[in-house]
Amino acid sequence: MSDKITIAISKGRIFDESIPLLAKINIIPKDDPKKTRRLIIETNQSDIQILVIRATDVPTYVERGAAALGIAGKDVLLEYQGDGFYEPFDLGIAKCQMMLAGLKKANQNSTNPRIATKYANITRDYFANFGQQVEIIKLYGSMELAPILGLADQIVDLVDTGETLKANGLVPLKHIADISSRLIVNKAAMKMKNTTIKSFMEKLSEVIRD
Ligand code: ATP
Ligand code: PRP
Repeated sequence: MSDKITIAISKGRIFDESIPLLAKINIIPKDDPKKTRRLIIETNQSDIQILVIRATDVPTYVERGAAALGIAGKDVLLEYQGDGFYEPFDLGIAKCQMMLAGLKKANQNSTNPRIATKYANITRDYFANFGQQVEIIKLYGSMELAPILGLADQIVDLVDTGETLKANGLVPLKHIADISSRLIVNKAAMKMKNTTIKSFMEKLSEVIRD
């Protein structure tokens, strides 16, 4: 294992909200992922680098040790269903809610509703808790379109301001989970690089509490 600490972070919202937190503990990336095609970004700390990857790939990189640390949404972690990493704390960023939503005017009482979502595991588990059978239609984005076009009866997706639901004539029906981003840590790295990772975690937890 090299001495470098690699942090896997997804491009976009989580990267944008993680950077101010990392800056508070004096970790400053040398490039902006919006401006460079580089996927490994060095920082002002020679022993810390950032991997810029898809949000859903963060748990895979960390579980398999390709990155010692990662920052991932709780939605992604719940859907991944792995336990090959530690999840020491909530960073309190990229906060939103996972909701069941449907068309404002629709009858929501189908016996075997078709649910469009990119969160197939979470959706299956949620309905299984009520003993309710559902047909899951796996999509990768723009779930709000599915009920409008008759592809599904309802959706399971993330909601923040509610603007996307509203703009597409949908309403929230049930709250499924509160979502925010978490730090995740590879189990082997936690042992092998304990001093560096512990010190990183201590500094980070201090700035989160501020
Ligand atoms: P991909 O690269 O796989 O397309 P994505 O489109 O889900 O990923 P983002 O939209 O940047 O990527 O979302 C990353 C994470 O940010 C999500 O996993 C979730 O935890 C959080 N998130 C998503 N949408 C919102 C939102 N509207 N408000 C706040 N946080 C959100
Ligand atoms: C997310 C989510 C919703 C929207 C909710 O989409 O999938 O569509 O945000 O936010 P709101 O309640 O504030 O409108 P995102 O912006 O990430 O787009 P994408 O997933 O389709 O890339």
